[in-house]
Amino acid sequence: MKYVVLVLGLCATLFFSGVTSAYGQQGDSSDNVIKYRQYVMSSISSHFKALKYLTTGRITQPQQWLPHAEALLDLTNMIESSFPEDSDFGDTDAKEIIWENKGDFNQKALKLIKASETMVKLIEAQKLDEARKQFNTIAKSCKSCHKKYREL
Ligand code: HEC
Repeated sequence: MKYVVLVLGLCATLFFSGVTSAYGQQGDSSDNVIKYRQYVMSSISSHFKALKYLTTGRITQPQQWLPHAEALLDLTNMIESSFPEDSDFGDTDAKEIIWENKGDFNQKALKLIKASETMVKLIEAQKLDEARKQFNTIAKSCKSCHKKYREL
């Protein structure tokens, strides 16, 4: 009997730790969640701006297109989990309607992920003219989310 209780306890622990990690920030303070996601967004922005300098020819560093595009792709994958429920209280520019429209918000994040993925592929294939155009698609994707979900 004791053994059964132990096993059940272990299952429950595994289950709940699984749930926690799935949502990422449960238990983290709202202030830290907000600060952290702003750092994630700023990192996205730095790679985005670096790519702008490269794709517009202001900087000639052909080897550096790909690492910035890959970093952008990795970071855009963090957007969805950076906006957990109840993280709209504090020093944030995130609008409350994000959590009323989380499906649509996540779709916009996914669009950016896909656009970044295409960017990586185009650079890998050395299709640089297309990559230059793709940068504009990425820029539109940022704007489309900010317009609806970020205080300006
Ligand atoms: C799915 C929606 C979404 C997408 C896509 C998105 N953002 Fe954001 N972004 C937000 C929200 C919401 C905030 C406000 C976060 C906060 O203050 O808590 C934000 C904040 C920012 C900030 C301010 C960070 C700070 O320090 O306060 C920058 C810079 C930024 N985004 C750049 C970008 C760039 C560049 C892209 C595209 C490559 C992008 N974002 C794509 C939703 C998005």
